[in-house]
Amino acid sequence: MTTLRMEEAAHAVLARNDRGGYTVPTDRLYPFQWNWDSAFVAMGFATFDVDRAFRELERLIEGQWDDGMIPHIVFHAPSDTYFPGPDVWGTKHHVPTSGITQPPVFGMALRHVYEAAVASGLADAETRAKVLFQAALRSHRWWLAARDPEDLGLVSILHPWESGSDNSPAWDEALARAPTTTSTAIRRKDTSHVNAAMRPRDEDYQRFIHLVDVYRDCGWNPKQQWARAPFKVADVQMTAILARATADLMHLAGILGSENDRAELAQMQGRLVNGLARRWRPHLSRFVSLDLISGADIEAPTQAGFIPLVALALDDAQRSAITAEIRRWLDGMTVGIPSAPAFSPAFEPKRYWRGPVWAVINWLIADGLRLNGAEELARHIEQSTVRTIENVGFCEYFDPTTGEGLGGDTFSWTAAAYLVLGRRE
Ligand code: GLC
Repeated sequence: MTTLRMEEAAHAVLARNDRGGYTVPTDRLYPFQWNWDSAFVAMGFATFDVDRAFRELERLIEGQWDDGMIPHIVFHAPSDTYFPGPDVWGTKHHVPTSGITQPPVFGMALRHVYEAAVASGLADAETRAKVLFQAALRSHRWWLAARDPEDLGLVSILHPWESGSDNSPAWDEALARAPTTTSTAIRRKDTSHVNAAMRPRDEDYQRFIHLVDVYRDCGWNPKQQWARAPFKVADVQMTAILARATADLMHLAGILGSENDRAELAQMQGRLVNGLARRWRPHLSRFVSLDLISGADIEAPTQAGFIPLVALALDDAQRSAITAEIRRWLDGMTVGIPSAPAFSPAFEPKRYWRGPVWAVINWLIADGLRLNGAEELARHIEQSTVRTIENVGFCEYFDPTTGEGLGGDTFSWTAAAYLVLGRRE
């Protein structure tokens, strides 16, 4: 297919997944609006329809809680093809939502969409962006208050699903401490849409739901959850995305916010960047998350260790170490970057977040490499992502050893990644 035909096909995926101003990640498997998917999707829309890009973010904010949290799922309309639905979460927002969050790509997307809107002369860009800017600021305040109450300069996840890398080997040890007992009856729907061998195992699923039960019993109160959480990980991927989004909001504050907003964001960003910088491990050539329950570093190799590239300016030694490490992970792969490297005992090239490649992860890492002057590697990653999508379509993720497309097909964020990365060639 020519690039133009592929762009049209990407537009068609987004149109097909459009449910009225918001986009589902894919039909049936994920039938609602997902937080970080929508942020990437908004950037994809910004390549051809900035008004629709704004709508995507505006609709996500309909789910924002009074305390500032932007939930990981907004259940705008009912669907019976997904578990756990609104009844399991038992939250109290006027639009039903889940009770946990996801990586705050929102601030990055807002800058991207706003700049595209200005470039295309969209009439009400500033008014709309101002509302979204305040929503983003409130969510960043929530992150630091609710998820870094001990002032580590790192934000924590209380559920693996918050990380966006739901089934990552990074969580294995920490999750194994969570009991498998649940007060909720588990009715998995995912394994009826895609091959069970690619999805989380039943036992892990029980632990996932156990955590939901605990937090629902806390009435979703952040302080109580922090005190009772059986799973608490200060995550470098999450912190890096938050730090980068904070820098993007600082950039926008001059136009969309006040001097006080800018100063507050600068203070947040300093705190996060310092916290993140302390997570570099020279012997591993990457950054590591911290298990706050055991107090131990999480050394399992996953893509998360490279995401701080989006937020930090590395020194020369770090830059050459991290680029060499990324190249090592790419070695022998048809397409990288694997979510776990082939040399890891946890590597499973087809199972969710335990080896497969995600286009949006490549997008983040390529951005971070470019920010750190590693242009050539950034381009290589972008181009191989684009080629893979051209070969097998807009799949949820890809087997790094073969380039095969896996999981759900016609995926919104893969279409968005194609639109954005395809233009960088
Ligand atoms: C899976 C992914 C998560 C994503 C969601 C919808 O749960 O792990 O990152 O947001 O699917 O695409």
